[in-house]
Amino acid sequence: MKASQPHGGILVNRIDHEGSVDSCKYEVELDNIALSDLELIAIGGYSPLIGFLDKENYHTVVKEMRLANGLPWSIPITLPVNEDTASKIDIGDKVKLVREQVVYGVMTVTDMYVPDKQREAALVYQTTDLAHPGVKKLFERPNVYLAGPITLIRRPQKEKFEQYYLDPSETREKFKQLGWNTIVGFQTRNPVHRAHEYIQKSALEIVDGLFLNPLVGETKSDDVPSDVRMESYQVLLNHYYPKDRVFLSVFPAAMRYAGPREAIFHALVRKNYGCTHFIVGRDHAGVGDYYGTYDSQKIFSNFTEEEIGIKTLFFEHSFYCTKCGNMGSAKTCPHDKKEHIVLSGTKVREMLRNGEMPPKEFSRPEVAKVLIKGMRNN
Ligand code: ADX
Repeated sequence: MKASQPHGGILVNRIDHEGSVDSCKYEVELDNIALSDLELIAIGGYSPLIGFLDKENYHTVVKEMRLANGLPWSIPITLPVNEDTASKIDIGDKVKLVREQVVYGVMTVTDMYVPDKQREAALVYQTTDLAHPGVKKLFERPNVYLAGPITLIRRPQKEKFEQYYLDPSETREKFKQLGWNTIVGFQTRNPVHRAHEYIQKSALEIVDGLFLNPLVGETKSDDVPSDVRMESYQVLLNHYYPKDRVFLSVFPAAMRYAGPREAIFHALVRKNYGCTHFIVGRDHAGVGDYYGTYDSQKIFSNFTEEEIGIKTLFFEHSFYCTKCGNMGSAKTCPHDKKEHIVLSGTKVREMLRNGEMPPKEFSRPEVAKVLIKGMRNN
């Protein structure tokens, strides 16, 4: 199998540490999401994007899950600013992109528009319910979208686990060094539990390496904090995975909780990081009951395999079966549901906060210990 090509053919690089801010009249304040998007555009994680979406591309992405040139793209990457900021800026202006007085980049403004957020929510999130964390965020952000190509002139500071931040050009190089031709990407925003481990290892039976790529950007407040998760991943890999067949590095994006749409986005981004395969399990990137268990798999049928350019590996809802004495799914286990150990994320977080160990059939004890300690301190 050939190494995967970046989406659109070229790995974008918009980093220029010498970039000048001299001709910038105005500055635009970024929130955490925009800052992580800025960095991901610049390092090529979002190839072929070279900036925040203009109106034409925004419309085709929202409506058709495609960029204006027809390439699949399912999540609008936008830069919202308030009306006051927008009123000072003209098309053609170069603006500084700032977070808490630090300049991280510059953008040449090519477009400015007011989105229909009800429509964006209905099409991207399949709901306009403000109880949905992604929709809530969408409406909390300012109301004018600024667009244009960006340059990153300063990397956001990594507080912890700096060695696990690798750019797509670096992960691609790493996979080459490791001699891996086929690499399966695994997205997660949670501690890795036994069902995750089962589907990862099932995939590892047929590919050369596993790229464990946890999302560490902004998540909702009741998700397990990323630094606690990072510690738990290290412990898990040390105890239960072959060292030469797994590579851990982080995905610094914000979580959108957009379910099916985000599954497409997650797959395309992992292609940019150099993966040839991508795991999509049950309710990928979902939250609450907004999406059907397998909607995030079904959505891929809107595209050809060539268009997506990364092979999706779909897995059924997996669990531990006490009768089988191992992990399985409805595809492999004939036993009644009452034999199956299935815990919800909410239930597990509650147990961890109370210092209770989840059963070893659900979570590896070494991992649970790290999580209990981490959750107590948070
Ligand atoms: S996500 O929001 O990042 O998708 P999570 O970290 O729980 O959430 O899931 C990571 C991946 O594992 C996703 O592809 C998800 O579909 C899959 N997954 C999670 N739990 C299960 C399970 N019990 N059985 C099968 N797949 C699962």
